[in-house]
Amino acid sequence: ARTDKAGHKHFMAKEIAEQPVVVAEAIRSYLPTGGDRVVLPDTDLDFTKLDRLTMVACGTAFYACLTAKYWFEQLAKMPVEVDIASEFRYREPPISDRTAALFVSQSGETADTLAALRYCEGKADKIVSVINVPESSIARESDIALPIHAGVEIGVASTKAFTCQLSVLLMLALKAAADRGTLTDEELADHTAALRGLPTVLNAALDQDRAIRKSAQRLSEARDVLFLGRGLMYPLAMEGALKLKEISYIHAEGYASGELKHGPIALIDKHMPVVVMAPRDAVFDKTVSNMQEVMARKGKVILVSDDDGIAEAEDGVWSTIRMPHVHTSLAPILYSVPAQLLAYHTAVAKGTDVDQPRNLAKSVTVE
Ligand code: G6P
Repeated sequence: ARTDKAGHKHFMAKEIAEQPVVVAEAIRSYLPTGGDRVVLPDTDLDFTKLDRLTMVACGTAFYACLTAKYWFEQLAKMPVEVDIASEFRYREPPISDRTAALFVSQSGETADTLAALRYCEGKADKIVSVINVPESSIARESDIALPIHAGVEIGVASTKAFTCQLSVLLMLALKAAADRGTLTDEELADHTAALRGLPTVLNAALDQDRAIRKSAQRLSEARDVLFLGRGLMYPLAMEGALKLKEISYIHAEGYASGELKHGPIALIDKHMPVVVMAPRDAVFDKTVSNMQEVMARKGKVILVSDDDGIAEAEDGVWSTIRMPHVHTSLAPILYSVPAQLLAYHTAVAKGTDVDQPRNLAKSVTVE
């Protein structure tokens, strides 16, 4: 059955493990075999007719939107605004008729997100949604509803829906880049080849389970945990912190590495674990220098990086989590796996109710 644990201890563990398969399904649905162009199923969206994107969501879906902002800006040179639905709906933001309003929701029923969508009706040029449940209210009320193909998600803490949302949003950004001519054919082909290889690297990330469990054992004794990342890894740092606080009840914050010195550095001492998400990319050296500021104050660094990054920066860190090498654009999807497994194993070590964390609901259909 689709709703049993398939031998896993928790639905969350099962859903984390399913990611290579469901992400492959999402990619197959938007990237026809043999081609390098993203094709939206049963619909079209012409990004040359749009000046701007406004993205709105709650919770984990909001972090997917924040990640997508980097993709749309870098790859398609499109200005993007991102907001949480409960703020957006009451702020009365002006929406131009060359804007696409994009709503991301696993359930498609989140009350604030639905209200934000209704606010955009008659104002935005197109209402687009990225959803997991095709029959949902948000899907039905959109001009274009793009399914993420994650399958039923039961764990309250979203995992596979997040990586499927990211995959679909990246493909949408690539479609925008192709429409607007902001990437060369070669660059597009590079991205699509990397996307097709994503399930394989996701499997390699899952293979790091034992090393991640060791780091989680250490995290389970902390009172506060800081997650740091820069660029595409900044939204993921916030998502990693959200996962940890949702299911382990440890206070966690995600911060942009460069903002460390403007506040959180005051909290660093030998009791403070700091998870640094840092693939060896163009901003790696900057993140490493922030990491060294943490270590100089005796903070305990868990460095999540690839072989090159670890070889370069592991001196003095508390522990490392090794990720396969991946195209820079795809790193937030891949590094979701260690973020999720860290939260999962920490919660298991603490004995909390992983699938049904206290006070949280899977879908928030009231305001
Ligand atoms: C709740 C869930 C989260 C989810 C958020 C948004 O808070 O616990 O996992 O990210 O709602 O839900 P949606 O269905 O709109 O993605």
